Amino acid sequence: MYKNQEILDYTVGAKNGPAEDYAWPEDGEHLIPDWVYTSQSVYDREMERIFKGKTWNFVALEAEIPNPGDYKRSYVGPVPVVVSRAEDGAITVFENRCAHRGAEFCRTSQGNAKEFVCPYHQWSYDLKGNLQGIPFKRGVAKQGGMPKDFRNEDHGLLKLRVTTRNGVIFASYSDEVEPIEEYLTPEILKDFDVAFPGKPLKILGYYKNELPCNWKMYHENLKDPYHATLLHSFLVVFGLLVAGNDSAMIADPVHHRHGTMASAKKEDKYAAISDDTKKEMRSFHDGMRLQDDRFLEFVKEFDSPWSVTMQTIWPNLIVQREMNTLGVRQIVPNGPNSMIMLWTMFGYEDDTPEMIRHRLRQGNLMGPAGFLGLEDNEAMKFVQEGVRRSSSDMNVVKLDAANTGTSNSLISEAAIRGMYQYYRKVMELPPTR
Ligand code: FES
Repeated sequence: MYKNQEILDYTVGAKNGPAEDYAWPEDGEHLIPDWVYTSQSVYDREMERIFKGKTWNFVALEAEIPNPGDYKRSYVGPVPVVVSRAEDGAITVFENRCAHRGAEFCRTSQGNAKEFVCPYHQWSYDLKGNLQGIPFKRGVAKQGGMPKDFRNEDHGLLKLRVTTRNGVIFASYSDEVEPIEEYLTPEILKDFDVAFPGKPLKILGYYKNELPCNWKMYHENLKDPYHATLLHSFLVVFGLLVAGNDSAMIADPVHHRHGTMASAKKEDKYAAISDDTKKEMRSFHDGMRLQDDRFLEFVKEFDSPWSVTMQTIWPNLIVQREMNTLGVRQIVPNGPNSMIMLWTMFGYEDDTPEMIRHRLRQGNLMGPAGFLGLEDNEAMKFVQEGVRRSSSDMNVVKLDAANTGTSNSLISEAAIRGMYQYYRKVMELPPTR
């Protein structure tokens, strides 16, 4: 049995309400207890309070379902949903769960349909998730069938609220969540709208991988500029992100739940790095050169001071703009110790063929085996292994201790602390007991 399971078993029996079951450490701002990454009860509460709570969850890009009848399977938290475009162009998101006996009826990841028919007993639904047909509804020879007062309108698929922003589709279980612009805040929208200026997108491809780590670690990783200059040899050797570059870790000022990690690459990709900086970075290798220099070309196409912005949009979206490589990553939680990452890489409809080639070539930076993605995946796996199996039980987040939320320094954990401040409020995890 893992130590966190033991803690959980002890605390569940010891307290009355679930919010009282977990004791956050005394120094609540600067320590994170391991059980937030490993406890099934905490995970279950996250699904109710966060993914089914007052949040907008990314589900698809409009470019993936451009025509009437187009649909895509997706997820809100771990819940399978279908994103569908009806004959009138309206987008509907409904649970991929038949209203009859619960079958996950939509079995293909993307396609075009006139209706959805559940394979089990062939109940059929229109493109907006309304129940339209039930075989043998009146029985056979006046025997069997549904009761007389059974109304199709009462048995449609469970629909979520839907909103879009410049071609990005979000869904929510909440009737109370604020409009998407307010949800994102102007500080986050600024860079979001750089990648999504409202012009038509062109889908370039997909990746999918499982990470053996808790879903929150992915948010933390992209709110942790400290690791970027240390773990990612490629970033520092080729000057994409070096301590000392212009950079920022911006957190939304309202809740600190969203973030933008931003940096500006120096013009010269082999720009000199001071000896002092090199000494701090074991992953730095002097004199390394690329065989193909085109790989790191940065075609200036955006009105932005940053060459890289990595945005974490709470709770399930990463918007990646790494020079000319653009993508969204959707986090699908898969129990406390695992998550699925769904990547969609894109460009714009008005890209030239050369630009598409360039985006695809540079896309090797990212993805499950990308020059940058690979190391993050490994690091997060190591952390999950550590928090599941070791005997101490606290994570230390004290870098740049005086700040919470936004920080101008890369050597900072202020954005991680900001996220957990918000998280604890939503989860109602008390500071101590
Ligand atoms: Fe879908 Fe019966 S479970 S029709």
